Amino acid sequence: MPPRVALTPGRPLQPDPWPPLSRPPPPGTAGKRAPAERLAGAHRLVVVSNRVAMGDPAGKSAGGLAVGILAALKRSGGIWFGWSGEVSDAPPAAAEIAQNDEITYATLDLARTDYEQYYNGFANRVLWPLFHYRPGLVEYQRADFAGYQRVNRQFAAHLAPLLRPHDLIWVHDYHLMPLADELRRRGVRQPIGFFLHTPFPPAELFRILPCHAELMRAMCAYDLVGFQTGGDIAGFRDYLLRWAGAQPDGAESLTACGRRQRLAAFPIGIDVEAIAGQSRQSAVARQMRRLQESLRQRQLIIGVDRLDYSKGLPQRFKAFERVLELFPEVRGQVTLMQIAPPTRSEVPEYTQIRRILETAAGHINGRFAEFDWMPLRYLNKSFNHRTLCGFLRAARVGLVTPLRDGMNLVAKEYVAAQDPEDPGALVLSCFAGAAEELGDALLVNPFDADGVAEAIHEALVMPREERVARWQSMMAVLRRNDIAAWRESFVAALAAAARAR
Ligand code: F6P
Repeated sequence: MPPRVALTPGRPLQPDPWPPLSRPPPPGTAGKRAPAERLAGAHRLVVVSNRVAMGDPAGKSAGGLAVGILAALKRSGGIWFGWSGEVSDAPPAAAEIAQNDEITYATLDLARTDYEQYYNGFANRVLWPLFHYRPGLVEYQRADFAGYQRVNRQFAAHLAPLLRPHDLIWVHDYHLMPLADELRRRGVRQPIGFFLHTPFPPAELFRILPCHAELMRAMCAYDLVGFQTGGDIAGFRDYLLRWAGAQPDGAESLTACGRRQRLAAFPIGIDVEAIAGQSRQSAVARQMRRLQESLRQRQLIIGVDRLDYSKGLPQRFKAFERVLELFPEVRGQVTLMQIAPPTRSEVPEYTQIRRILETAAGHINGRFAEFDWMPLRYLNKSFNHRTLCGFLRAARVGLVTPLRDGMNLVAKEYVAAQDPEDPGALVLSCFAGAAEELGDALLVNPFDADGVAEAIHEALVMPREERVARWQSMMAVLRRNDIAAWRESFVAALAAAARAR
């Protein structure tokens, strides 16, 4: 853990207007990495997200967003501002500042009421289910929306004094939709971009939200709004055109609330070589020997997900049960290991899904287990990233079947972790953003238990040549759209959108 020092808040800056880029890229380098590297070097990157992963990148707490941002910031350096993960009695007086190599971490604690209303309430009982196409799970309370706005105001108030004139500000995810508007109210004129890691729903679904107009008015303060896929852009754009009086301005831009805004897709990637390296290293680790010994030559099917209702785990268990019913020859020959660390456990829907899965796991094992074979290993715990990479490599089948997911980096990590000589096969939900890039996975509809069961069986019996061919083609995509490409394309687009403004 890096050393922490208290920062005395300074006077809010009145920054200069955004300057043009000082030097054009050298001839022949357009579209390559060098210009964006230089851009990030000349202009400090300020990343803001609810969750900040301090310390070890391979640590257990690192989720998809945290892993992605950390990998992006490690290369360019900059500030990472967000919630410390701590809940305190009173609102924070100042941000805590800590330095670790190229990254300055600036974090705030949340007061108990803020944590309840902003994080547990509006972010995770309203926006999360709505953005994952689950309006039936939305629990809207005006007080929670007020808490959400209050925390966004606090973030803006503590961030504004840390900003420098030439910063590029990159805000992440659904917790912080009003942040740019709050920063603009404090005179911040630097380019501000927003990236949504989750899906964005169709406009008609979004309109269910009683505060939809207020939230989208605030979103107009961003210069650039990035999404995982074209489908997410469509919902957002459709809403602005139909319900917020926006005017189209070219294929990717529109003018809304008197401001020009660019909308574009930036599918998040992974650090392919780092994952491949970690999985190679952990292939010889002690845990891997223990895993292999315990499997006794059986084929491993693996799932790794936060314990979240969007991940489709009850449907996945059902599909595995159908495998055992439809293909009795695999009984005793396969093991499904589902790793599902609990998250957001103060939100009631998460307690419910946990109970449902405990029952389902007990049912499957009770029905099919033999005295020397347990079909399903269900683990409510997390592992460090290196160990997980080893587990992914050991699995003949990667099972990634969310009902709806922004991207799903586990799908990408599963592919990157494979042994090139003998890779496993990926069974992937067509409702994960990753399906747009990973067409060589076995794509399934997670609501169709028999279809998923057939795909699992196909993966189990797939010849090595076919697995290698599919893996090579998916790796080519992952290498092209890696984490560096994601950061560089977003940062370059943000600078360009601000110049156009
Ligand atoms: O986009 C997915 C996301 O909500 C991230 O913002 C977050 O880091 C991750 O899931 C884990 O969720 P939480 O921070 O609520 O534990």
